[in-house]
Parts: sequence; C-alpha cells; structure tokens
Amino acid sequence: MIQVLVVYASDYGNTQKAAEEVAAGARSVQNTRVFLKRAEEVTEKDFSSSDGVVIGTPVHMGSCDWRIKKLIDTVCSELWMKGTMIGKVAGVFVTGSGFGNSGGGAELAMLSLLTNFAQLGMIIVPLPKSTPGYARGGLQWGPCARSAGENMEQNGVSTESLEAARCHGAYIARTAHVLAGGRIFGTGCA
Ligand SMILES: Cc1cc2nc3c(=O)[nH]c(=O)nc-3n(C[C@H](O)[C@H](O)[C@H](O)COP(=O)(O)O)c2cc1C
Repeated sequence: MIQVLVVYASDYGNTQKAAEEVAAGARSVQNTRVFLKRAEEVTEKDFSSSDGVVIGTPVHMGSCDWRIKKLIDTVCSELWMKGTMIGKVAGVFVTGSGFGNSGGGAELAMLSLLTNFAQLGMIIVPLPKSTPGYARGGLQWGPCARSAGENMEQNGVSTESLEAARCHGAYIARTAHVLAGGRIFGTGCA
C-alpha cells in the first residue's frame, strides 16, 4: 500500500474541484491510500507518511495562494531541514482566471511550487502532452484549469481540465508505486 497526499487551497471551489479529481485519479490506482486536505489542515506527519504529494493552488497575483506559501515556509521547511521528503514523488496543479493570452501567471505559480519540491529533493512528475484533456486543461508541469472566460465571467473548470487532473493523480500514484521503498538517492553516487 502506498499513500498519496493531495493538498489544496481554495476560496471559490475551483481548485477544490480539481483537487478532488487528482485524488480520484490517485485512488483509481490499486493499493493506494489517498488523503485530500486543505493546506491549513496539513501536518508534518501527513507529509512524512506519504509516498507522493500533490499540491494545488489558485493563481494569486501570478504566484501561490498564501495558505500554500505558509505551508511551504512552515511545515515544508522543517521537512527540508530533516531531508524527510528526499526521493518521494511530487506534482502540482493550478486554477486561475487566466486573463490575457499567457495564462495570467499560472505557469509561474506552478514553477514556484516545483522549485519548492526540488528543494525538498523530490521526484517531480510532469504532465505529458498525450494526457486526455491536455490541449485545453494541461501544461507540461501539470493540470491547469482556466476558471473564467474572456470577460472574466466565472465559468468553473472545464471537463478537459478535470480529465487531465484525474490522469495526473493516477500518474503520481503509479510513479510512487514504482519508487516505493527504494531510496534512489543516497549519500554518494555508488
Ligand atoms: C487575490 C486574487 C488574486 C488573483 N490573481 C490571479 C492571477 O494573478 N492570475 C490569474 O490567472 N487568476 C488570478 N485570480 C483568479 C483565481 O486564480 C481563480 O479565480 C481561481 O480559479 C480561484 O480558485 P478557487 O476557486 O479555488 O479559489 C486571482 C484571484 C484572487 C482572489
């Protein structure tokens, strides 16, 4: 049995919806226990007992929601000190209004979270372009849902984004199964 932790922040439900799909995708992989938690609820033990962690955030001013950042600067900083997450699996997803033609900072928000995962020594799982829903709901970094239309009308997240989110959860769980138990990074190269 492996464990996948899906963490999110959400004010209006869009990122929560994406998080639920990521969790459902992870749960669809046999012998996978999944915990779906808001950032405020997550403890150090939730991270340390998980083989894979997926974090989702709404894009706020081109970067992460403050609750996610708080989690990174508190709980994850402790884990960084101890090296607890080294060799475990990580992934990201975002939702944003995406005003303009360049994603409104979605990619930057994803990259900043991926930087945090790299700091923790985690194995980052991307989202391949062959993923169902990718064309409208994905980026190479992970699922990316645009929740508003051209005039900033709130449309919710598309079925394509949710499809990509579900697949991402399954990819992460499968990767965690492959890597489980094996310390792929040691204290030297041998
Ligand atoms: C304070 C704030 C800042 C935001 N900044 C951005 C932004 O920089 N880029 C963007 O695409 N959307 C931005 N949005 C829109 C949200 O990212 C978008 O509505 C998202 O889907 C909300 O997720 P939620 O329903 O899970 O809260 C912002 C929203 C808020 C409340």
